[in-house]
Amino acid sequence: MIDFSQYLTEAEHHFPEMIQIRRRLHQHPELSYMEFETTRFLIDHLANLGYEVLKPLETGCVAVLKGKSPESRIVALRADIDALPIQEEGEHKKAFMSKIDGVAHCCGHDIHTANLLGAARMIADKKVELEGTVVLIFQPGEEKIPGGGKLLMDAGTLQELGVQRIYGLHTFPYMKPGEIAVKSGPLMASPDEFRLTIHGKGGHAAAPHIAVDPIVIAAQVVTSLQSIVSRALDPTEPGVVTVGKISGGSAHNVIPERVEMLGTIRSFNEETANLISSRIEQFAKGLAEAHGGSAEYYFDEGYPPVINDNEVTSKLLEIAENVLGAEAIHMLEKPVMAGEDFAFYQKKFPGTFFFLGSGSEETGSVHSWHHPKYNADENCMKNGSALMTALALKG
Ligand code: NI
Repeated sequence: MIDFSQYLTEAEHHFPEMIQIRRRLHQHPELSYMEFETTRFLIDHLANLGYEVLKPLETGCVAVLKGKSPESRIVALRADIDALPIQEEGEHKKAFMSKIDGVAHCCGHDIHTANLLGAARMIADKKVELEGTVVLIFQPGEEKIPGGGKLLMDAGTLQELGVQRIYGLHTFPYMKPGEIAVKSGPLMASPDEFRLTIHGKGGHAAAPHIAVDPIVIAAQVVTSLQSIVSRALDPTEPGVVTVGKISGGSAHNVIPERVEMLGTIRSFNEETANLISSRIEQFAKGLAEAHGGSAEYYFDEGYPPVINDNEVTSKLLEIAENVLGAEAIHMLEKPVMAGEDFAFYQKKFPGTFFFLGSGSEETGSVHSWHHPKYNADENCMKNGSALMTALALKG
């Protein structure tokens, strides 16, 4: 057994560099599939550390380091690198706010990237101890369908490299730095997307009887969708329907032609997703027709659910206990309904995804993912990078 007791100390030593990288990325966020500057920086940095860097997609990269008997074990570690179309807010991030209007790292992917670069340095330092091959994935486009994970799997690079196991993490505002949350089996839901267009007949607001009001139809549709999970779904089966955007109309005295809606469906299997989707379509079309209008429905298949492999999760637990101590590990009892394109890797390779505690009052890290004030306590990178390094060597 490797002695992991020094890993946290080493991570502490490299912590200032990780902070510097994280803040640099945070100030220069790039949207999904447009992470060109981030990719240039990553390639330079990883090449300097001695990695062979591959670029299977236009953005993002895959870094390979071979140790002794490189074929004997091939372990992949993944970080996602994209930011979100959000206007950033937050006192606690003042020193390193996004310099790009309307784009911000509000999901912690800057932390994931800096954390894995910290691990990359420590792994490179330990190359003489390394048995097998380490594959570091810096993945683009996690936030946007079809998902960079899908594109990377379609490119076939990881299959060619012979990856045998894969680990990934996400910052987690509900636990403190130093803690991790782990779960075998289903961890994250499958997020699908839908779009609805309700067509009515525009007219004067004072003459509704000769118009067909799509706003009234849309309001009834939104209300009706609430009964799908409560009335159509098996009560023991998790599911979510949320309309996240609704737009239509131009003035207080005009009945518009149409209303557009965007929404998401969350589930843990295809049957549930299909059931919810078909009911949304039925409600929208049926209600629109009853009012003399019509509805168009589009479904965009999202990511599969994240299902953690039992054996790889056990390995993670054993190593995490050694690196961080047993008290740092929390077993999650329930899955979360957020989605992750890490699921695409798990369809091919046994793998496990876990949460890295990153919440703290002092750093204002109290907001949920995708909140304009979202922040992750940087201290989580000490534990995160130490654990990723250990997984690279023994996971
Ligand atoms: Ni994320």
